[in-house]
Amino acid sequence: TWTTGSVIEEQVEAIRRQVGTKRAICGLSGGVDSAVAAALVQKAIGSQLTCVYVDHGLMRKGETEQVEKDFVAATGVQLKVVDAQERFLTALKGVSDPEQKRKIIGREFIRVFEQAQAEIVAEAGESGEPVEFLVQGTLYPDVVESGGGTGTANIKSHHNVGGLPEDLEFQLVEPLRKLFKDEVRMVGHELGLPEEIVQRQPFPGPGLGIRIVGEVTRERLDLLREADAIAREELTAAGLDREIWQCPVVLLADVRSVGVQGDGRTYGHPIVLRPVSSEDAMTADWSRLPYDVLAKISTRITNEVRDVNRVVLDVTSKPPGTIEWE
Ligand code: XMP
Repeated sequence: TWTTGSVIEEQVEAIRRQVGTKRAICGLSGGVDSAVAAALVQKAIGSQLTCVYVDHGLMRKGETEQVEKDFVAATGVQLKVVDAQERFLTALKGVSDPEQKRKIIGREFIRVFEQAQAEIVAEAGESGEPVEFLVQGTLYPDVVESGGGTGTANIKSHHNVGGLPEDLEFQLVEPLRKLFKDEVRMVGHELGLPEEIVQRQPFPGPGLGIRIVGEVTRERLDLLREADAIAREELTAAGLDREIWQCPVVLLADVRSVGVQGDGRTYGHPIVLRPVSSEDAMTADWSRLPYDVLAKISTRITNEVRDVNRVVLDVTSKPPGTIEWE
């Protein structure tokens, strides 16, 4: 029978058998899957594992610190953090087209990741055992989906950050291949990972970069990060985290509207709230959030976030709207 404990034991055994005395690396995205996969492999082979986290500057408030501090504290994993914020901002300069943004972010991510990977391989080489394994947080539904090969329409280019270069010279370690998302969360919980990581809602690899409609700049990212943090705080306070699938917060950076605050006229940007309920993100419905929660979020965002004078609610299901705006 299935228990979290037996899954962990079984996987730890299997990982040890597969990796032996060699070394492994793992990309952390901040998401649940890569975190749980890394924690499992860490439990199995300890210091033979090194994790890489690319800070592209498109994360939400507190997320990088969560990986740097809380995840490391909970697992004792060796972590290499690459600060690539400037690089991503430079690459995204002047770009407004959603697909182009996605391609640039995916491309830069792979470059930075490969460079970090090469450094780890070189450092390990000097001290003995080669790095031969790459850990991936592939889940059962991912396995089924990629095996199906029915050629579903490619609506957006999904770069799975934490994802991988094509010309693989590594063998894959995929300890979550037989698990569904809720089981992965149970395993993560059992391994002692922080709740904020284990219960995390889906967040796209390209991060806030595809939640700014318009060019991505440092100022706009800071502004959106504040608005997003407020929305998350209030949804959590209202106990709605499990009820909604996710709630993208979107900045319409190229739109301005007239408002009034204090004794003055304002001409600021709208923030869009996009709370959705869903089973698998293939289809979704807009969440009927309580009005008082929406009111609180709206009041706080317009009071606390500079240059935002309007909050609007997206009441579109998927289809026809996708969950993300870009
Ligand atoms: P859409 O916008 O296509 O999103 O309805 C469906 C789900 O996928 C997430 N998403 C992504 N996840 N890399 C990811 O890892 C991506 O590039 C990406 N784009 C969208 C989105 O947040 C939603 O959960």
